[in-house]
Order: sequence, then structure tokens, then C-alpha cells
Amino acid sequence: FEVSVDPSASDKGTYPYYMLKEIDEQPNVMRKLSAEYLDEAGHPKLDADLVDAIKGSDRIYIVGAGTSYHAGLVGKMQLEKLTGIPAEVHVASEFAYEDPLLSEKPFFIFLSQSGETADSRQVLVNVNKQKLPSLTITNVANSTLSRESTFTLLLQAGPEISVASTKAYTAQIALEAILAKAVGEAKENQAALDFDLKGQLAVVAQGMQSIVDEKNEINQIAEDYFVDANQAFYIGRGIDYTVSIEAALKLKEISYVHAEGFASGELKHGTIALIEPGTPVIGIITQAGTAGLTRSNLEETAARGAKTLSIVKKSLARPEDTFVIPDVDELLTPLLSVIPAQLLAYYTSLNKGLNVDLPRNLAKSVTVE
Ligand code: G6P
Repeated sequence: FEVSVDPSASDKGTYPYYMLKEIDEQPNVMRKLSAEYLDEAGHPKLDADLVDAIKGSDRIYIVGAGTSYHAGLVGKMQLEKLTGIPAEVHVASEFAYEDPLLSEKPFFIFLSQSGETADSRQVLVNVNKQKLPSLTITNVANSTLSRESTFTLLLQAGPEISVASTKAYTAQIALEAILAKAVGEAKENQAALDFDLKGQLAVVAQGMQSIVDEKNEINQIAEDYFVDANQAFYIGRGIDYTVSIEAALKLKEISYVHAEGFASGELKHGTIALIEPGTPVIGIITQAGTAGLTRSNLEETAARGAKTLSIVKKSLARPEDTFVIPDVDELLTPLLSVIPAQLLAYYTSLNKGLNVDLPRNLAKSVTVE
């Protein structure tokens, strides 16, 4: 296969690493997706056959690896809430060798920045053998997954060079929301009809900009909390839990700090034993229904000596919170809560003198199973 990269679009310019450039590009990617896929009135402009195919399905199966899998976890929540169709998310390398009991009318969504991940492709090969419909959401037109699936949607994020995925993750989440709204509107789902996605994506773009403008403060926090840490934990519930595992992945893959994301209610069932004096624990709190619970879990770790930090939506914030992110619809909060985590990982890696874009043992695109 051939991957064409426009060198001007992937020039680092004055940036020391692609990762920082790609983090900074996210507000524009949000605007681009909105302009590309939503009309003036805010209704999605997607292929009617694609929308019909998903509308006619009885279950959506989302498949991905790494960061794309994490974006799928958010997509499941968006799709279920806005379309009423049950959705499940699978790690590609596991699903490929299971003998899954499928529903009667399944629809598959493949998430892959590169469109080349062998694990995901193996699932698609199985899906195609059974002549089942599929959509690939990818950043690379004409990639293998795009060519071999029934439908394709492009992320429009521009080339992502750094191994650690940033703008592809947020683009995937925004595009999943657009897809969910399109199918939900077709089903006349009230939540989908009422969802001002265009307005919310504009708020997201501004909010992302306000966070990336705080780089110096985030750099300082990385130095104070993470550079000398040998472990760190992100905790959250629901959609915040999905972001906590992505946030932990960012930190571990480029800074080599052992990091894990946990459902905050699970902490007390084992992981809290690992908390030592000085262990950084970051709570992600963006959902009104569970904010109090996650706060208590964070306090439990502080009582055991953890150095706690928090990423909190403005309307739920308290004076002691570390990162206060703008208010946005509960289905879109990952687009903002992940940004401080991306920057913390970046600055931890940078301050440790590591090669941010090319971490050891990792590849941008894994084309072996
Ligand atoms: C590799 C990359 C990850 C990426 C994963 C899936 O492991 O290092 O950043 O999330 O592959 O890649 P894909 O291209 O399918 O999204």
C-alpha cells in the first residue's frame, strides 16, 4: 500500500516535537470536522446509505486498538444515548480470535487512525467473510481498512506523526458524536434532535484553545508531580473512566512512568493498596451524577498520602481543583478533559529528556498481529 503524506502539512515548524504541534492543532481539527460534516443548521451531512445501514441494525460493534479502542469506549456511550441502539466495544486483537455471538443485524465500526492496524484488519476479514456491513473511521484515505469496509469516514485531522496519538483521538470522538447524531435524527430520537452539536463543538474548540494556552503551568505541574514519580493513577467514573485509561496510556507510553486508569469505585477493591506517600492520583470529574463519588475516592487516596490532582468541569469545580475545564455537553467532555493529560504526558517526557515522538519499543502503526 502507499501512504501519501503532504510534507508541508507535517512540517514541525518551530515545534520541538510533533506531539506538541498535534496537541495544538486540536481546536482547528474540531472546527474542520464541524465545517465538513455539519450543515448550516447543524444537521449532519453524511452518506444516507451509511445512516440507513446503522439505523437498520440491532447492535453496533465497535472495534479498535490502543487509543482508538479508548475512543470507541466514548463512541459507545454517544451512540447508545443518541440512537437507542445497543453498542459494544472490543479490543481488536481479542475479538479477532473469539467466536462472538453476534446479533441478528450487526453493524461494525472500525476505528483506526492509520487504517492499517493488523489486529483490526483481522476482525474486518472475518466480518467480510460473513458479508456484514461495516464503517471505517480513519485518518488515512485509501488505507487498507478503508478500502475493505463498506463505508469510510475520514477524520480530517491531517497527518499524525508522533507515536502517541492525540488529535486522532479527539477527532474520532467528535466524528462518532456526529455519526450518533445523524443516526439518532434519522430515528427521530429526541436527545439527538435536541443536541446542539455544532454549537458544542465550537465551545470545545475554544475550550481546547484555552487549555493549550496554559502550557507553562502544566509544564510546572509535570515537573512537580510526575518527573520523579515511579507510578501514577488516573481515576474517574463512566465517560471519565474511559478518559482515565487513555490519560494513563499517554503517560506510560512516552514518559515510562507506570500509570494506570481506574474506575474510581474499584480503587478500594485492590488498587488503593498501591498508594504510597507522594503517589500522584488524578481524578477526572465531569459528570454531575458521579462527581461527589469520585471526589470521595480521591480524598481516600489523599488520606493515604497520595498527591492528588483534579481535572474538573467548571460547573462542578471547587477552589482547590487543579485543572478547571470549560462546561460542555456530558457526551463531549473527553474532548476537553484529555487535553491536560496529553500535556502532562508530553512535559513529563520532555523534562526527562526522552524522545517524545519516538518512545522505545513502540511503532506508530502496528501491521503485525
Ligand atoms: C499503535 C500506536 C497507538 C495507536 C494504536 C492503534 O499501538 O502506537 O498510538 O493507538 O497503534 O492504531 P490505529 O492506527 O489503528 O489507530
